[in-house]
Amino acid sequence: MKIFNTKQEIKSFLHTQGEANKTIGFVPTMGALHEGHLSLIKKAKKKNDLVVVSIFVNPTQFDNQEDLVKYPKTYKKDTKLLENVSCDVLFFPSVEEIYANNVLPKKFNFDGLEHQMEGKFREGHFNGVGTIVKTLFEVIEPNNAYFGEKDFQQLKIIKKMVKKHHLNVKIKGCKIFREEDGLAMSSRNSRLNIEQRTSAPFIYRTLKKARDKFETENTAKTTEWVQNQFEKHPFLDLEYFTIADEKTLESIKNKESDKKYRAFIAVFAGEIRLIDNIRLK
Ligand code: PAJ
Repeated sequence: MKIFNTKQEIKSFLHTQGEANKTIGFVPTMGALHEGHLSLIKKAKKKNDLVVVSIFVNPTQFDNQEDLVKYPKTYKKDTKLLENVSCDVLFFPSVEEIYANNVLPKKFNFDGLEHQMEGKFREGHFNGVGTIVKTLFEVIEPNNAYFGEKDFQQLKIIKKMVKKHHLNVKIKGCKIFREEDGLAMSSRNSRLNIEQRTSAPFIYRTLKKARDKFETENTAKTTEWVQNQFEKHPFLDLEYFTIADEKTLESIKNKESDKKYRAFIAVFAGEIRLIDNIRLK
């Protein structure tokens, strides 16, 4: 695997590859890699001649300084995992390389998608995500880029950005990869203590029950039921649970038969924030 730390170096390397008509698949990450990330990379490997992964803990998408400082950094382990899945190229830039002296996000308009859910609770988060992903796309110029449904709102926002800015890349959504007990894999899971880790599968269990309830109950009843479940829980605090239209991501009051819905959840286990979502029937 080739490793590059500067935009210039990776650009000129990929240029020689591109000229040979190779397709480039790109998987942006913030490192602390797990099977969820690797599933994206494996998918990219199947469909592209060359797979590029980036590891960059992007400061402008963190609304919480402590979360940024404590974000797990496991570079050595990550490079081994990447070698194991035959990743071709790793881009591992410094903050200075990406932002120079101006560590600030650009402002984006994602037609309202950015004001829902994560956008409500994490001020400026999606401007930070848009800024880094657009920068990385400009450096790597991938044919295909892979994003997980774990961050469903992010996936929708990237698709919107590509459309609005006429970027020449296809965005591929990938299924949520889970631990055996159902907990959605996340780099933040490694920060959970034993009590929190044992409790965390409750999130997905509750989502699945909510999905079943929503088949016969209305939105308000389903939401209230979820809120009650978490009120009783000793280690998990619900930040939000909402049922939203998959297209607009707006919370819904009443079901309509021709629309697709998804339930979204954010939960605190101590200071660690976990998110998950599920497609509703
Ligand atoms: P990160 O949280 O490292 O995730 C990188 C990619 O892996 C994202 O597309 C995310 O949705 C996906 N992913 C994470 N956990 C997953 C799981 N359990 N199953 C499937 N896919 C999963 O998301 C980011 O980084 C950043 O916001 C980034 C896009 C890199 C921009 O900084």
